[in-house]
Amino acid sequence: MNDTPLRLSHRTQDIQPFHVMNILAQARAMEAAGRSIIHMEIGEPDFPTAPAIVEAGIRALRAGHTHYTPALGLPELREAISRFYRERYAVDVSPARIVVTPGASGALQLVLAMLINPGDRVLVTDPGYPCNRHLVRMTEGEAVGLNVSAETGFQPTAQQVAAAWSERTAALLLASPANPTGTLIAPALMRDILEVVTGQRGCMIVDEIYHGLVYEAQPAATALALSDRVFVVNSFSKYFGMTGWRLGWLVVPEPYASHADKLAQNLFLAASTPAQYAALAAFQPETIAILETRRREFAARRDYLIAALRELGFDVPVTPGGAFYVYADCRRFSSGSYDFAAEILEKAGVALTPGADFGHNLPERYLRFAYTTSIANLEEGVRRLRDFLARRPPRND
Ligand SMILES: Cc1ncc(COP(=O)(O)O)c(C=O)c1O
Repeated sequence: MNDTPLRLSHRTQDIQPFHVMNILAQARAMEAAGRSIIHMEIGEPDFPTAPAIVEAGIRALRAGHTHYTPALGLPELREAISRFYRERYAVDVSPARIVVTPGASGALQLVLAMLINPGDRVLVTDPGYPCNRHLVRMTEGEAVGLNVSAETGFQPTAQQVAAAWSERTAALLLASPANPTGTLIAPALMRDILEVVTGQRGCMIVDEIYHGLVYEAQPAATALALSDRVFVVNSFSKYFGMTGWRLGWLVVPEPYASHADKLAQNLFLAASTPAQYAALAAFQPETIAILETRRREFAARRDYLIAALRELGFDVPVTPGGAFYVYADCRRFSSGSYDFAAEILEKAGVALTPGADFGHNLPERYLRFAYTTSIANLEEGVRRLRDFLARRPPRND
């Protein structure tokens, strides 16, 4: 190696890695050295992809479906997603507005590339999904954090959006249910926020990736029921249990479809072909029955974990209505959740994600617990936490 410095773009330098990756790497190293670790840091379902989807993927490969599909996606899949909106949400979404993408990640990249000019501001919640800020940075936009707190269910109010809007603001990006808090935006609030955004001639992007994983009002209302002017991101990753297949979708207002097509052609040519054929089986009744059983299992885990964390002395200020996360306040035990997560991993063998991954708004207070593991593992994790906390001197700063 010579000593020529690496040439790195400013955007690469600006983008932060996930802190949780350090935790995960450390956890894996501890496991390799023989320690048992309970994983509550992982943001993907522990269940395997449902059998009918796997079989459809294998059949597609055997049938030679290994070439590109159209950039907007396999027509049958776009129709199946459209039918899903009609059957599950009673909302009419034309297949012409649906773009199949490599995960919600691809959908977010596409929609931001389509809407954002250098210097444009995009409002994102803080805490929020960390990639949002980084993807805005990739488009040379500026992510502006909307600090959200437990008082408003970790979602912004319409007044807050109005106050944060400026001449340079182009879009608002929300998620319901959200990562890391699992909280939803009620339809009335979504309507009020949409009114503010459209009043400003801005664009509203709603990430509905955790939509199927909702434990109270089911199904959660999609933002597409309110307006055909919103951009909706979704994915086969979470509810459909297909994280590794890399498949999602974006719904755009009709006038944007040809622009999305052009960008998709250039950004990724098309999403994975075998994954698209496999996903056709995701909407079959037998698959949905399996996914609904899993949803009930997630609900049981959520109920167990929230009660157990509260009993241990963590503050769970808002009961999350969806996703598979609990965002718990750990102030009673520590003034710094990053160090606390490292200590818990080291001394209790439980891996968690510190608030620092989700933004700048009081991250030191919070830990994210993911219930992407069995109730038996959650119980073991809680037992280890109880022992660890009992041994630990109380906070004295
Ligand atoms: C809120 C949110 N949006 C988007 C994604 C990206 O998911 P994928 O690209 O697997 O569909 C994630 C993944 O964790 C997420 O939590």
